[in-house]
Amino acid sequence: MNLIFLGPPGAGKGTLAGAVSKAYGVPHISTGDIFREAVKAQSALGRKVKDIIDSGALVGDDITIALVKERLSRKDAQGGFILDGFPRTIPQAEALEAIVPIDGAVNFDISDKEVLRRLSGRRVCKGCGRNFHTEFMPPKAENTCDHCGSALFIRDDDRPESITRRLELYREQTAPLAGWYKKKGLLKEIDARPGTERILETFRSLFPGKQK
Ligand code: AP5
Repeated sequence: MNLIFLGPPGAGKGTLAGAVSKAYGVPHISTGDIFREAVKAQSALGRKVKDIIDSGALVGDDITIALVKERLSRKDAQGGFILDGFPRTIPQAEALEAIVPIDGAVNFDISDKEVLRRLSGRRVCKGCGRNFHTEFMPPKAENTCDHCGSALFIRDDDRPESITRRLELYREQTAPLAGWYKKKGLLKEIDARPGTERILETFRSLFPGKQK
């Protein structure tokens, strides 16, 4: 099962990818997570991309494609994967096509209003990186991760100016990919408004393949 998740920022791609990864036993590969880990580790890549990510702009295609190519060559991705946040541009989609065949592109359908609600309430664990939401998935103790006890923080790109930039870039560069995959007969639309459990049920009916 080689799948990609498409959709606006904050649509819930990462949250569903985590649940699908568990249910189907395939790795969740998020380019955003890889970039954020590089920033946290202050690696050469992290220093290069930090300001780009914080402002809500896109990292260059060359860097991103090379990173995904390397990640997909690893052993754990040979039995399938969920690519979350890649491709985001037509050149990235063309490059992916040359790397590996794709079985489906899942497009998350959600309004801007809901995106803003989800992004403005998102809180992320400093320790293990898990996502919470002040309204929809509140932690048991305020500002503390349920899993590892670390403090929660607001992502720099979840500030209002960065959200606006991310939505603009999504419309210009990423939304056209839905049509690109539709023409290839690979597009599946998913209503991203309900809770994660319900979306996972819909996902299971769209992709009944090998589940744990
Ligand atoms: P990335 O991390 O990919 O950001 P994104 O696409 O903007 O997606 P998000 O992580 O913001 O949202 P999501 O859809 O995963 O939602 P989530 O599940 O967290 O990329 C970050 C940056 O890296 C980019 O801006 C760019 O700079 C760079 N980058 C990455 N990939 C790149 C590429 N290919 N090319 C170039 N640059 C790239 O959910 C959001 C919130 O809602 C959470 O609080 C969650 O708890 C809550 N929630 C989730 N689902 C539900 C639900 N069903 N009901 C209620 N609440 C929910």
